[in-house]
Amino acid sequence: MNEKEILAWLREEDPARLERLWREADCVRAKNVGDQVHLRGLIELSNICVRKCAYCGINAGNKNLIRFRMTEEEIRSAARLACELNLGSVILQSGEDYGFTKEKISRIIKLIKQETPLAVTLSLGERSLNELTAWREAGADRYFLRFETSNRSLYNRLHPPLPGKTSDRIFLLQKIKELGYETGSGIMIGLPGQTYIDIARDILLFRELDLDMIGVGPYIPHPATPLAQEVGKAYPDQVPNTSLMTWKVIALTRLVCPESNIPSTTALATINKMEGYFGGLKRGANVVMPDLTPAKYRILYEIYPGKASFGEDIQGAIQKFKEQLIEMGRPPGTGPGGRKRH
Ligand code: 5AD
Repeated sequence: MNEKEILAWLREEDPARLERLWREADCVRAKNVGDQVHLRGLIELSNICVRKCAYCGINAGNKNLIRFRMTEEEIRSAARLACELNLGSVILQSGEDYGFTKEKISRIIKLIKQETPLAVTLSLGERSLNELTAWREAGADRYFLRFETSNRSLYNRLHPPLPGKTSDRIFLLQKIKELGYETGSGIMIGLPGQTYIDIARDILLFRELDLDMIGVGPYIPHPATPLAQEVGKAYPDQVPNTSLMTWKVIALTRLVCPESNIPSTTALATINKMEGYFGGLKRGANVVMPDLTPAKYRILYEIYPGKASFGEDIQGAIQKFKEQLIEMGRPPGTGPGGRKRH
């Protein structure tokens, strides 16, 4: 597919033709990554962040937020929970928190690798090559870093760099790949000022980067962020932050990157209570990332408001979710669920 064809689908409104897109994406998904839905345990290590990303609720400028950092013991026990729930992997995600030093993260990776069979994905922001190298050597399998938008001027508007540094996630993603990580990235959909052409180019960049994992979700305004003030302003060719648009991007991403692992994201489940995770799973996605962060921290990891959750009884909720998956002919995945190349 080229830019023009992707663009036409992004603008498509006819329900019958969209049904065709969903069906095609679902077929390509079944053929390339199979029917299993891989569940990844998300552990939100810390909401401390040095960056001021304009959309993000835990950005350093938000002074009305209680900050937390999980202890090593708490992280270990969340990883054990992932094992008990039979999940094949964990994602260690956090703000750009330099309290998690190279050594500390290395130690945590080694502990999890010694104590469990889990694949370990890191999602710790824009860290140095030195750190990324050490963590790979410590045994981390995957790294996830969304480039958020391929539109350079929009990117720069949203991501003020740290003093004396530049913020270039696409460069970092290439380095992450070279280090031998399975590499994941993605975008938000419906950022103020984001156009349809931007999204078409984002999807083509997914292919160019040959990503192993691609996560996309709607932008959800957080009132304590500067970007929320811009919502509703009249930008030309503005992409809506709707579930329909997110479904289109998931389906097109599946067609353009048939082998990638594509989650049905929490942000999507947050804005669409009717279909939730299933809406994405029926349109090309094959992964769900249940949040295993202890409840007292989970509510503080508020990157956007109203974040969907599996609730207090995580064991019960995941059991029920697995039963629903089986009912729809999409059994929960077994094993770490890494990328398979054909
Ligand atoms: N709405 C939706 N997604 C958000 N993210 C951060 N803030 C928001 C928001 N307000 C996403 C970013 C980031 C990921 C961890 O969460 O894409 O990479």
